[in-house]
Amino acid sequence: MKISNNTILITGGATGIGLGLTERFLKENNKVIICGRRTEVLEEIARKHPSVITKACDLSIAEEREALYKWISEEHKDVNVLINNAGIQNDLPISDDDFYLHVKEEIAINIEAPLHLTSLFLNLASLNTIMNVTSGLAFSPLAKAHAYSATKAFMRSFTLSMRSLLKDKAIDVIEIIPPALNTDLGGKGVHDYAPPVSDFIETIFEQLKEGKKELTFGFSAAMLTAGPEDLQKAFARMNGSN
Ligand SMILES: NC(=O)c1ccc[n+]([C@@H]2O[C@H](COP(=O)([O-])OP(=O)(O)OC[C@H]3O[C@@H](n4cnc5c(N)ncnc54)[C@H](OP(=O)(O)O)[C@@H]3O)[C@@H](O)[C@H]2O)c1
Repeated sequence: MKISNNTILITGGATGIGLGLTERFLKENNKVIICGRRTEVLEEIARKHPSVITKACDLSIAEEREALYKWISEEHKDVNVLINNAGIQNDLPISDDDFYLHVKEEIAINIEAPLHLTSLFLNLASLNTIMNVTSGLAFSPLAKAHAYSATKAFMRSFTLSMRSLLKDKAIDVIEIIPPALNTDLGGKGVHDYAPPVSDFIETIFEQLKEGKKELTFGFSAAMLTAGPEDLQKAFARMNGSN
């Protein structure tokens, strides 16, 4: 994809990895539109970066995804890049009474939303790039984050298929594959041990400029090239089993 002069919608673009992408794409002279549920967080980013356009929406609700697309197709139909970044991580034991409620929410945001938005945004004549944020856990699951890891494996599989199917339409499908990074994903403090988002963003932008379609860093770079034995070892190391 070209790095500059795009109009980009970044879901969850006001925090964490999404914010890293927002600020980096602004630096490269792009028009950036972001969405998320918390208006106060969106307003804070709009104050810091006045050129950013914000929209409050809850992507777990189908009607809100449709309303977001309708607004884009009427007000910003020049959007040519969709970045499906918004995601949540709820790590609850399967025996927890609330397990199913939480896992349904995880599936709605991590899977249903990007699939629905993809189908809607493909109606935009200007669309030429879709970027999906998956995870190193798509390759080797973290057992305590069982459902979350599975949502990311689902999205990696879907992204591979879309890349193949949309080639004829000249739509680039790019997978952003973060390893653990220091954001508020899963709650404040959960990812404090991990590297900063800024290092990750700089690395993946280099890869983007080289024309790569699978953007990786650290653990996720190792996972992308891992053979079956490496994957087994990684699983054992991560989950304390053989
Ligand atoms: N951090 C990591 O270690 C890591 C590793 C691999 C992959 N990832 C992936 O990276 C992506 C970004 O996560 P992050 O680490 O940057 O965490 P984050 O800071 O918590 O970002 C998640 C973003 O998604 C938005 N969001 C969540 N639910 C939403 C909903 N229902 N509707 C609209 N927006 C919603 C949040 O905004 P609101 O809360 O305001 O709605 C927030 O801006 C996720 O897909 C995550 O799975 C993260």
